[in-house]
Amino acid sequence: MAFDLVIRNARVATASDTFDSDIGIQGGRIVQLGAGLDGGAQEIDAAGRVVTPGGVDAHCHLDQPMEGPAKMADGFESGTRSAACGGTTTVIPFAAQAKGQSLRAAVEDYHSRAEGQAHVDYAFHLIVSDPTAHVLEQELPALIGEGYTSFKVYMTYDDLKLDDGQMLDVLDVARRHGAMAMIHAENADCIEWLTKRLEAAGRTAPRFHAHARPMLVEREATHRAISLAQLVDVPVLIVHVSGKEAIEQIRWARGHGLSVFAETCPQYLFLTAEDLGIDDSYHGARCICSPPPRDKANQEIIWDGLNDGLFTVFSSDHAPFNYDDPAGKKPGGKEVPFRHIPNGIPGLETRLPLLYSEGVLGGRMTLNRFVELTATNPAKAYGLHPRKGTIAIGSDADLVVWDERDVTIRNAQLHHAVDYTPYEGMRLKAWPGLTLSRGEVVWDGKNFSGRAGRGRFLACGTPSLMPARRGE
Ligand code: URP
Ligand code: ZN
Ligand code: ZN
Repeated sequence: MAFDLVIRNARVATASDTFDSDIGIQGGRIVQLGAGLDGGAQEIDAAGRVVTPGGVDAHCHLDQPMEGPAKMADGFESGTRSAACGGTTTVIPFAAQAKGQSLRAAVEDYHSRAEGQAHVDYAFHLIVSDPTAHVLEQELPALIGEGYTSFKVYMTYDDLKLDDGQMLDVLDVARRHGAMAMIHAENADCIEWLTKRLEAAGRTAPRFHAHARPMLVEREATHRAISLAQLVDVPVLIVHVSGKEAIEQIRWARGHGLSVFAETCPQYLFLTAEDLGIDDSYHGARCICSPPPRDKANQEIIWDGLNDGLFTVFSSDHAPFNYDDPAGKKPGGKEVPFRHIPNGIPGLETRLPLLYSEGVLGGRMTLNRFVELTATNPAKAYGLHPRKGTIAIGSDADLVVWDERDVTIRNAQLHHAVDYTPYEGMRLKAWPGLTLSRGEVVWDGKNFSGRAGRGRFLACGTPSLMPARRGE
């Protein structure tokens, strides 16, 4: 067989197996696996190196329209460039409905933001913030049928949150049309009550963001989200789970036979609330995200959940705001009370290297579990598997060849458009040495060689995750 490209002597890792093989690629797809394949027009020798599926980052925010002065630093061009240089070959950001806006208009607007910009393939989740009868009966079912098979709902943030009745209505649409509902679980009223008390006491520095969002508010909302899903009888996925108390709710649900999936993110493994500040310095605004990072003990509990199957997906929740920017963490150029600081941190490029280095090479996670969490499960959860998320005949040739070498994370060497990384100075043991997107090298360990517009939109199919069995 004639190949466009053969990767020789790879140590191939999938979610279930690790084996030595050549990888034959033609027309952007994997067409043969095995030893001693025929020659290709191009050849790459991967001897001694691990090759994993390209990452699927199923939770990132790119060029998402914001209220007020805030503007995301990354759009599809810089966001997908950064993704590729960190080994991620598929991104799923959010087409967000503003209140009063048609959901279809939000999707059309988001396509125009992505058009001609992306270096790697992309799909869209929806954000449903205004579930009118028209949205519930017409727009959402039609969009699910057209390949937007997942949507996020918020239990917090004034401009996005749904009440319990609205949550039930949208979960019922997910059930009837086979979509995956992602839930941001934090209790909005508790956060508002705590925020007002902190403000009255003059406690408005960035570190108080974590005081306004203790784990109790996440635990309560997680339990409520699970109860709403149980009432409707629909699987749900709780996003960006930060620690013990939310995990306990999810374990309880699994123990009762409910299909509750869970996602966590690098910030809950590698940051703590102290990164928001140990004094009133504004520097900690960099690490403001919701839910906030917790403490070392909770980091350990997150590691346990990653290993025992509690977590299904490991995403970045890349929400890119510059620090020193009137459109970013300093609204209008000022150091403002934490309530007004845009939530979110960058992480698209560092997600895979952090988990590969500290998890796999740090002896905390198997290579196969790494693949499952970062590529295979997100592709299954959002209807992209087996085209994405695995190394198999017929799958897109989205691949990462790993370089095991010492790397110190420096924002100056990252490829996003954000003016900081929360992981500055962290020492890692690996970085992607090659990233291939549909058989094309887009990152060679030093140089980026993508092309804006080569990334394709992916219509998603039906989520194909089996009900979670482990982590009970
Ligand atoms: O703080 C966060 N996580 N910002 C991004 C938006 C979201 O809720 O995921
Ligand atoms: Zn969220
Ligand atoms: Zn998010």
